[in-house]
Amino acid sequence: KTHKVTLIPGDGIGPEVTNAVVRILEATGVKFDWESYAAGAEAFEKHGEYVPKELYESIERNKLALKGPVTTPVGGGFTSINVALRKKFELYVNFRPIKNLPGLETRYPGVDLIIVRENTEGEYVGLEHEVVPGVMTSLKVITEKGSTRIAQWAFDYARKHKRKKVHAIHKANIMKLSDGLFLKCARNIAKGFPEITYGEHIIDNTCMQLVTNPYQYDTLLLPNLYGDIVSDLCAAFVGGLGLVPGANLGTDAAIFEAVHGSAPDIAGKDIANPTALLQSAILMLHHIDEAAAADRLQTALERVYTEKKTLTRDVHGTAGTSAFADAVIAAMAVT
Ligand code: NAI
Ligand code: MG
Repeated sequence: KTHKVTLIPGDGIGPEVTNAVVRILEATGVKFDWESYAAGAEAFEKHGEYVPKELYESIERNKLALKGPVTTPVGGGFTSINVALRKKFELYVNFRPIKNLPGLETRYPGVDLIIVRENTEGEYVGLEHEVVPGVMTSLKVITEKGSTRIAQWAFDYARKHKRKKVHAIHKANIMKLSDGLFLKCARNIAKGFPEITYGEHIIDNTCMQLVTNPYQYDTLLLPNLYGDIVSDLCAAFVGGLGLVPGANLGTDAAIFEAVHGSAPDIAGKDIANPTALLQSAILMLHHIDEAAAADRLQTALERVYTEKKTLTRDVHGTAGTSAFADAVIAAMAVT
């Protein structure tokens, strides 16, 4: 079977890490038919649109995309393409497993956390207004439907994967109505999962608790913005943003992408770590029922990290992006 996949290389380090991952995926033996599209500033220069119509149509057809990061300018310019794609395809789940790779020494060994971030509402609805000069508002929208479906997904995942705890993270002491509703929905869903311990922690305390002892948590269920911030925090447990994968999931489509952004500080130098996107691609292989290829790739990746010979700079190696990809491909050949 040939899998049709929409490919969004993105910008900054996007094209470098995407290239590396596509080469590795091609070497798994799984057959792919890539439909590649520019998005962001580059797409605007070429087509006059930040997200070309063809890109939307391609995802609509394939229901599957692999995506590199896209730079979103601060202030004016355009609204985030990530936000646009997640909204358009109702990708309400942002799933981010935080797990140490065998062989890689990190600040905290043996971390195994699941982040389930609500991906379509909260502060990301883009409802911002200048009330009068000098006064700006950004609306945060939390709905019963949005909160219930993400809580349901988190608990279903926890049950399926035999996770023990789910913590809903909030600031309902201050945002009594919006975060209060998020909690109420989570509590309701939790009732159907008596075998899973349910807890509620306030976001600021959660940050302190995580850094003090990340092992006390199992699955974290968070509204959009808190999930965004806590993801980067948790990335530091397992070696940084170069490692952590993600999946944007909805009922009709899935977009796999790393947690990190376009890293302009290291772009174009062949030094970015493609592991985060590669691990996202492994999630994608599972999603398309190519579990054998996913396992082969995982084993090869772990071998490269255990051997420590060809690692990128962010994980204290000296290898470049493409040399790392070559090493994973070579490791696959011997497994
Ligand atoms: P960033 O995640 O791009 O970079 C943060 C730090 O981590 C930098 O020091 C960078 O060099 C390092 N880093 C990130 N990925 C790495 C990798 N694969 N290997 C080695 N080091 C890596 O965050 P930043 O700089 O705040 O954002 C840059 C741009 O990316 C912004 O325009 C932002 O809006 C956009 N962004 C896009 C995302 C997406 O398309 N999904 C997600 C997050 C940010
Ligand atoms: Mg982020």
